[in-house]
Amino acid sequence: MLFKLKESFPAYYRYYGRRIAKKLSPTLSTVFENSYKKISIDQNVLDIISNKKISKKYILNKTFNKHIIEIGFGDGDHLLAQSIANKDVHYIGCEVFVNGLGKVLKKIIDLNLDNIKLCGLNCLHLLNCLEDSSIDQVFIINPDPWEKKRHFKRRLINKDFISLLYKKIKSGGNIMITTDSSSYYSHMSEILKNKEIEFEKIEINSLSPGDRLYDISKYQKKGIDKGRKIHLVELSKI
Ligand SMILES: C[S@@+](CC[C@H](N)C(=O)[O-])C[C@H]1O[C@@H](n2cnc3c(N)ncnc32)[C@H](O)[C@@H]1O
Repeated sequence: MLFKLKESFPAYYRYYGRRIAKKLSPTLSTVFENSYKKISIDQNVLDIISNKKISKKYILNKTFNKHIIEIGFGDGDHLLAQSIANKDVHYIGCEVFVNGLGKVLKKIIDLNLDNIKLCGLNCLHLLNCLEDSSIDQVFIINPDPWEKKRHFKRRLINKDFISLLYKKIKSGGNIMITTDSSSYYSHMSEILKNKEIEFEKIEINSLSPGDRLYDISKYQKKGIDKGRKIHLVELSKI
């Protein structure tokens, strides 16, 4: 189902970087075929954005009071652990990397988790079709660093993206971004000096062992093994 959607709507799945690292195993291909439609919200998002019904928005599951999005969840370690620990919270995991999407989809089915939905589209499309002030929290754990100067423009975090996040987050909600890249950290710090940034409270810290968001994902672990600091940027809407 995912592959049919990607063929029909290639523009909405496009982003910089890899989408499939290795051929999907027969097990993951079967999981996609049998379960992606049920667990994903791609079709709902595509119906809204491709019809250009700007006023129409994706309706979040009203049986949950709290909605959390994780963007670029990779192998899904943090997303899955959170959804298992907080059964009363609704999670939407957004990831364009198909192998990661498949691994997490399989775990959702195996563990029978009913509080996660997946989205395989570029997260900009997902965010654009959500109601304003509807999301409690957004996690972005170690976004692709794009270390080369000529690739800085590919970085997910920029002024417009932060404004979009601000619109979608509820009052009292927050955005948590971690990175092990000192260059990405400086890039975010520069953006956050802009007077037009809407978030009322901005906190920047380095994480230590034992902190809730330290050592929680594959890419963080890689950074820690290399002796890098893990930076946390927390943006709160009052
Ligand atoms: C460096 S990896 C980090 C993965 C994971 N969070 C971790 O820390 O192990 C960044 C991830 O973000 C995903 N990504 C990048 N741009 C994205 C976008 N526009 N929408 C959704 N996912 C995106 C990539 O596919 C990749 O898996």
